[in-house]
Amino acid sequence: MEAGTEQAPGLTTTKAPFIENARSRGDLFITQPYDQYSEENHQSWRNLYARMGERWEKYANHRFLEGLDSLGLNGERVPRLSEVNQFLAPLTGFKAKPVSGYVPAYLFFDCLGRREFPTTITIRDVATPDYLPEPDIFHDIGGHVPMHTDPAFAETLVRFGKVASGAVERLVDLEDSDELRERVASNMRAMARFFWFTIEFGLMRDQDSGTEDDLRVYGSGLLSSHGEIQHSVESEAVQRYPFQLEWVVNQGFRIDRYQPLLFIVESFEHLFDEVNRLEEWMEEGRLDHVAPGEPTISAEEIEISLAAAREDD
Ligand SMILES: [Fe+2]
Repeated sequence: MEAGTEQAPGLTTTKAPFIENARSRGDLFITQPYDQYSEENHQSWRNLYARMGERWEKYANHRFLEGLDSLGLNGERVPRLSEVNQFLAPLTGFKAKPVSGYVPAYLFFDCLGRREFPTTITIRDVATPDYLPEPDIFHDIGGHVPMHTDPAFAETLVRFGKVASGAVERLVDLEDSDELRERVASNMRAMARFFWFTIEFGLMRDQDSGTEDDLRVYGSGLLSSHGEIQHSVESEAVQRYPFQLEWVVNQGFRIDRYQPLLFIVESFEHLFDEVNRLEEWMEEGRLDHVAPGEPTISAEEIEISLAAAREDD
C-alpha cells in the first residue's frame, strides 16, 4: 500500500479497535480520534442526517431546530466534538465529553450536573441505519446535543443530574446492608425511568404552533430515529398521556422496540417543575421503594454508584 492511502481503521459501533483498546485499559473518558473515521463512517452520518431533515422539520420541537442551526451541524461529515463545543459552550456551558461506552448511571448523572454530556463517538454501520441497541454519535450529537443549546432545557438537565446523583449521595451514610442496596437500586430505577420518559422519549405541546395538532418531539431517542419520530406522534398504537410523576417513576420500559406509552409535558418550565417535584419525592424517601421491573440495576452498578458517591461525599 502506498504511503498516504492507508484506510482509516474506522469507528464503527462494536467494531472499533480504538474503543476496544480504551475499554481494555479501563479508560471511560477519552478523546475523539477524528482521523480514524473511515469514509464509510462519514457516509453513514451523511445518510442518517439526510433522511432526518424532513422529519425534524415536521415533528421536532422548534428549540431543537434552532439548536441544529446554532451548532452549525452539517450533514456531510461526522462532527468534531471540539467544534460542536465551541458553539455550544458559550450558549449554555454544556460540553459534549467523549466516552468509550456505557457510563454507569451515577457517573452519567453526575456529569450532567456539571454540564458535561457523555458522548459516544462511534457510529452505526452504514448497512444498518435503523436499529441498534447501543447509542452512537448520531443519537448523541444528532439527537441530544441540539437540545442542550436551549437555556431552559439545559437548566432542567443540570437540575435533573444533580437530583439523580443526589439520590445516591443521600443514602451513602446509611448502615451498609441489603436494605441500603435495595433503596439505591430503587432510586436509580426511578431516575432512569424519569430520564427515559422525558429526555429520551418525551413529547411536548408546542405553544407557538397555534394549531390543535401541536404535539412535538423533544426526546432524543425519538429525534434520532427516522421511524419512531413519526410513529410517536401519529400512530394509534401509541398511548399518550399528560406527564404524571407517580406513574413515570413506577413504569418499566423496554429499549428494544418502539415505545407503546409516551408522556406529554406542556413546556420546558413544566418539565423543570417536575424535576423539582422529583427532588422533593427523593428527599422524602418516596423513591426508595418504586415498582420493581425494568430497568434492572445490576449489583455491579450499585457498587460503582455507592463507591463513586462516597468519594464525592
Ligand atoms: Fe440517549
